[in-house]
Amino acid sequence: MRVDLANQDITAIQADAIIVNLFEGVREPQGATGAVNRALDGLIGTIIEKGDFDGRSHQTQVIYTPQLPTPRVILVGLGKKEEFDIERVRQAAGSAMGACCKTRSRRIATIVHGVGIGGLDAEACAQATVEGSLLAAYRYQTHRTRSEEDMSLPDTLILVEREEDKLPAFTKGLERGQILAEATNYARDLVNAPGNFSNPLQLAESARKLASQGNLTCDILNKDKLEELGMGALLAVGQGSAVPPCMIVLTHRGSDPDQLLSLVGKGITYDSGGINLKSGKNMELMRNDMAGGAAVLGAMQAIDRLKPDVTVMGLIPCAENLPSGHALKPGDVVTAMTGKTIEIISTDAEGRLLLADAVAYAVLQGATHVVDVATLTGAIGIALGEGIYSGMVANNDELVKDLLSAASLSGERFWRLPSDPEYRELNKSSIADIRNVGDGLGGAITAGLFVGEFVADKPWVHLDIAGTCYSKKEGPYQGRGATGVTVRTLTELAVRKAGRAQA
Ligand code: BES
Ligand code: ZN
Ligand code: ZN
Repeated sequence: MRVDLANQDITAIQADAIIVNLFEGVREPQGATGAVNRALDGLIGTIIEKGDFDGRSHQTQVIYTPQLPTPRVILVGLGKKEEFDIERVRQAAGSAMGACCKTRSRRIATIVHGVGIGGLDAEACAQATVEGSLLAAYRYQTHRTRSEEDMSLPDTLILVEREEDKLPAFTKGLERGQILAEATNYARDLVNAPGNFSNPLQLAESARKLASQGNLTCDILNKDKLEELGMGALLAVGQGSAVPPCMIVLTHRGSDPDQLLSLVGKGITYDSGGINLKSGKNMELMRNDMAGGAAVLGAMQAIDRLKPDVTVMGLIPCAENLPSGHALKPGDVVTAMTGKTIEIISTDAEGRLLLADAVAYAVLQGATHVVDVATLTGAIGIALGEGIYSGMVANNDELVKDLLSAASLSGERFWRLPSDPEYRELNKSSIADIRNVGDGLGGAITAGLFVGEFVADKPWVHLDIAGTCYSKKEGPYQGRGATGVTVRTLTELAVRKAGRAQA
């Protein structure tokens, strides 16, 4: 979508719809909403008075406006003033965009939510308004032969502001918001893609294309190279498929040679469970098992465009987990790149295997901080529910703090799980150094800690997105399907690391 900024009075703009807002309980609209109300001879006031609209969050009201150059006004609720924050801005923009999509409006003008009476930072509000709008207008249409909806989706968003002194902050926020939303939608596209359109080689091709469009370098470690490096765990996961595994290595260069942030994403392009074949229910959703890898690709796109001065290496170990005569079996023992031997208890616990080799590779390349993102366990949904918090297992309080503070801006939520030594014990094997399934419950913790065994004590955070990478229901800026979760937080983390390096 095209995104512009107009220094104009919202009542004078030419568009298919204009968006204004209202806090819950406000009887007399102020600011831009007040200006629109006056231009409509007090119609918004009447709508409030009659009780059709009370400003609660997510509420929208379409008003048809022959008095204005624009045929319709969309009124969106901001909720209670005391609960207002930047995430509410994103949600209001998303709800309003949802209403615009239903009216089939294409050229949308909006005020920036949250700046006036909301009192929030102007740049952050512009960013969140653009993010919410662009994320809400996302549809996955690639495999529909009739894409009527696609034809009528909004194609232009204009932020409208009358006061000139706000424009510089809005320009910056607009650019950041557009980059972050587009990167999230790019990750959503990759996750939503069917398994037969995104096998490991095809995902590697997507990474190559991404690098060729910007300044990232892209290196694909093929099967021969993985063998040469001794990545026995990654190779084992891929050995049942006709398509060989590979590792995507994307690099964004900063000037400080002493800092290297590595983002590692699980790239299982389809997880059948392998010889421990999954039951049929929801098995089609296992095409999403590369959502961590997609999040890293999305974050690398955004980092490439935002250019923070920090070196970031995106690593995506890719494989298809299938049963066959060549497949890995329960009871097998494999040797990871670090030399650690792993007893295979379940071939369905494959994510931690390929992540083990990938995080070890990050350390070998000189990573000073490692963050891995993975649809690792069903157990995380049992612990934290679905679609709310992603799980987190870590060995370093400082990196956790940085990640959580990045997340507070992106609106994504993470909950740290305990990692006391007793949990580590549960991964002990009787015949090898470690086993790939913990003994007992707490599966999201033992899975995370398994990966942590391969980071050589470097500051490390593991994010389990199995419960958050896919949405079954509609949210204000989230439709059914892939969410693109962690793209915005990972990008923000890289930006913060650069800020600190410069300080
Ligand atoms: N990809 C799955 C985890 C998953 C489950 C993602 C549900 C999205 C939704 C992972 O590879 C897996 O199968 N994990 C097993 C581990 C078990 C065998 C210890 C699980 O969670 O059941
Ligand atoms: Zn699995
Ligand atoms: Zn999996």
